[in-house]
Amino acid sequence: MSRRIQLSCCRVEKKPRDTVLILVLCSDRIHPPEFFKKKYAVDEVHYVTEISSVLALKKPDVLLTLRGVNTDSGNVSKEASFEGISQFNVNNKILHPEIAECRVIKTDMELEVLRYTNKVSSEAHKEVMKAVKAGMKEYEMESLFQHYCYARGGMRHTSYTCICGSGENSSVLHYGHAGAPNDRTIQDGDLCLFDMGGEYYCYGSDITCTFPANGKFTPDQRAIYEAVLKSSRAVMKAVKPGVAWPDMHRLADRVHLEELTKIGILKGNVDDMVKVHLGAIFMPHGLGHLLGIDVHDVGGYPEGVERIDLPGLRSLRTARSLEQGMVLTIEPGIYFIDHLLDQALHDPAQSCFINNDVLQRFRGFGGVRIEDDIAVTATGMELLTCVPRTVEEIEAFMAEGQSSAKSFDRLSSQKQ
Ligand code: GLY
Ligand code: MN
Ligand code: MN
Repeated sequence: MSRRIQLSCCRVEKKPRDTVLILVLCSDRIHPPEFFKKKYAVDEVHYVTEISSVLALKKPDVLLTLRGVNTDSGNVSKEASFEGISQFNVNNKILHPEIAECRVIKTDMELEVLRYTNKVSSEAHKEVMKAVKAGMKEYEMESLFQHYCYARGGMRHTSYTCICGSGENSSVLHYGHAGAPNDRTIQDGDLCLFDMGGEYYCYGSDITCTFPANGKFTPDQRAIYEAVLKSSRAVMKAVKPGVAWPDMHRLADRVHLEELTKIGILKGNVDDMVKVHLGAIFMPHGLGHLLGIDVHDVGGYPEGVERIDLPGLRSLRTARSLEQGMVLTIEPGIYFIDHLLDQALHDPAQSCFINNDVLQRFRGFGGVRIEDDIAVTATGMELLTCVPRTVEEIEAFMAEGQSSAKSFDRLSSQKQ
């Protein structure tokens, strides 16, 4: 019987027949192999020092190691190695696309964990919405989110650095990094765009809530927020197996252009705006991405799926058609980014659609993003995220939350 052995540091649920998985496990003390066999539900366990001799006894035709390009970062994953590997016939090409494919379609157990990360992270976002007020630092909200996830959910890590943009910072897509560490003081009248997700046993979540710091939307904030909510919900209605993800991005763009026209920022025919890619001025990122062990999960561009080299669409981290069991984010946004607006105003093909007088009012507005996590089902989708989403829900939730005793104050006083 031909035997393949795959050498990997990650847990794989869907192992092919006649394949032995080698898992490198870490522990606080040296437990017997039986301990790990039970804990991780695997067939065989050996200590790392025995790897070469154990594998030699199995006489594999080929040893598969994991090496491949991450289509997001362009980084090449480093394959596992060990002393004595040169005695084996090693193939480092076969495994990577197979593992990536295993990760794209989630098992029921994986879905359970992702439901959990979403549940706890949604509650943590709500805790932040209740606590926020003008005068606080953005990082206080980051800290509260992390505290809630860890204290209540056992989620020690977040799946990415928290993005807590207030005011104009809400238009900075990856705000919160070391160069801009969520350190602005939140002002009365600001919109807050908080993009935060907790992680549990390596599985992530990726949720963005946008809301007014003082709990009440201005008419302009409400108009932009509701435009984004409309695109989000239009996409959710359309999602089902077989739908091409780039078409969902196009749908969101179209809704934004229609709504921006109703608001008066744009004028003219939406089909013509689409032809000159005006949507990418206001949403310069992809509609969403696969989510799982990585927040931007692997498998977005398998062989045969090509990146679409057009504004906005080229930022999509996958161009696949949807399949049952995929987990993705739906995260449309409208942002007022000076350099992109100026670029459009200098391009006659785009500027002819812009009412610059109205646009001036939105300079410095920041941005709105609404990001939910979903699982594709046989007939549609399951919404994993559960936070207040409509303007009415947000305003009612914040009014109620802020009038009751602040949980953040309670947490602070406990420490004294
Ligand atoms: N939080 C990163 C993203 O939304 O993709
Ligand atoms: Mn995301
Ligand atoms: Mn996000």
